[in-house]
Amino acid sequence: MTIVVTGGAGFIGANFIYYMRSAHPDYRIVCIDKLTYAGNLSTLAPIMDDPDFRFIKADICDRDAIETVFQEEKPDILVNFAAESHVDRSIADPQVFLQTNVLGTQVLMDACRKYGIKRYHQVSTDEVYGDLPLDRPDLFFTEETPIHASSPYSASKAAADLLVIAYHRTYGLPVSISRCSNNYGPYQFPEKLIPLMIANALSDKQLPVYGQGINVRDWLYVEDHCKAIDLILHNGSAGSIYNIGGHNEMRNIDIVKLICHALNKPESLICYVKDRKGHDLRYAIDPAKIHEELGWLPDTKFADGIQKTIAWYLENREWWEEIVSGEYQKYYEKMYGA
Ligand code: NAD
Ligand code: TYD
Repeated sequence: MTIVVTGGAGFIGANFIYYMRSAHPDYRIVCIDKLTYAGNLSTLAPIMDDPDFRFIKADICDRDAIETVFQEEKPDILVNFAAESHVDRSIADPQVFLQTNVLGTQVLMDACRKYGIKRYHQVSTDEVYGDLPLDRPDLFFTEETPIHASSPYSASKAAADLLVIAYHRTYGLPVSISRCSNNYGPYQFPEKLIPLMIANALSDKQLPVYGQGINVRDWLYVEDHCKAIDLILHNGSAGSIYNIGGHNEMRNIDIVKLICHALNKPESLICYVKDRKGHDLRYAIDPAKIHEELGWLPDTKFADGIQKTIAWYLENREWWEEIVSGEYQKYYEKMYGA
């Protein structure tokens, strides 16, 4: 079995590669990644010399490069993680989000049609459903919730999902889609809430909370997401969408305070900054379908997952300090100013 993993030098893609390497040691894994600012080859260093692993630096929008991979590797499965993934960047500059997230998806699926594939899996997000009100804790996103994206990022992911469903209906491409809630864990780029707050707190820098910090996200440990995708690839039905989430809703401010306490840092580091434009209020997944059809349940409780994550960032300072000191610093200064 040969699996192509796009975006495997990023946060979830890399965790997925390591998960699959240990769950299916006999599979060949081919990683395609453009190595944008968010891709980090050092994350994959431990696996680079593995004869059943191949890394290819390529853009998923590059039709010739993608077709060459199909000709050489004849993959059975393709899992598409490659994307521009940060909402704030999509608000500042949407163009590349449409390019990679929509047109890149089309290029990958065209190659699947041309050369054949057993399964094309699109890694999507709960953000395609828009948001839920803060005063209706009884409401959850199901697979039937209408698409109602808020940001250029979520709109580009929603557009890609529609294209994936259209390729299934029109061409019979054997696709599946997973829509997961917010992930956290090792190797997450420190522009996203949890690693940003850990890195800043460790450097005694201010902790910028948007608005009042009362927006709610549904957090899932990244390994549980990887496990869910593995189940969908092997047991999920073609043409299906699966929501993935662990019923772990938290307000942003409570997460930031928890990180302060865990690192023994004062809450006075917290500073409230201008709210994100169009800021989604609450995300909350109903994971009943994947639980009932595929038996998936998350293994890691938030209390354990966040401790493991904090420990990882403490033990792997080099990994994130290199990022924070490089090109990313220019983005940080533009975004948060002085
Ligand atoms: P990430 O930003 O950490 O990684 C994205 C990776 O894709 C990087 O390695 C980058 O170099 C690569 N990439 C970007 N553009 C590319 C291109 N044109 N061609 C090839 N490679 C390219 O993102 P992530 O957090 O790991 O998210 C992975 C996927 O999961 C995304 O599709 C995202 O929408 C989805 N998702 C993320 C979350 C989350 O909480 N992080 C939750 C649900 C779904
Ligand atoms: P983020 O990690 O960007 O994920 P998403 O917006 O895709 O859910 O942000 C998670 C939440 O944290 C979101 O409500 C915005 C908020 N946030 C802050 O308050 N401060 C920050 O510096 C960042 C990056 C996010």
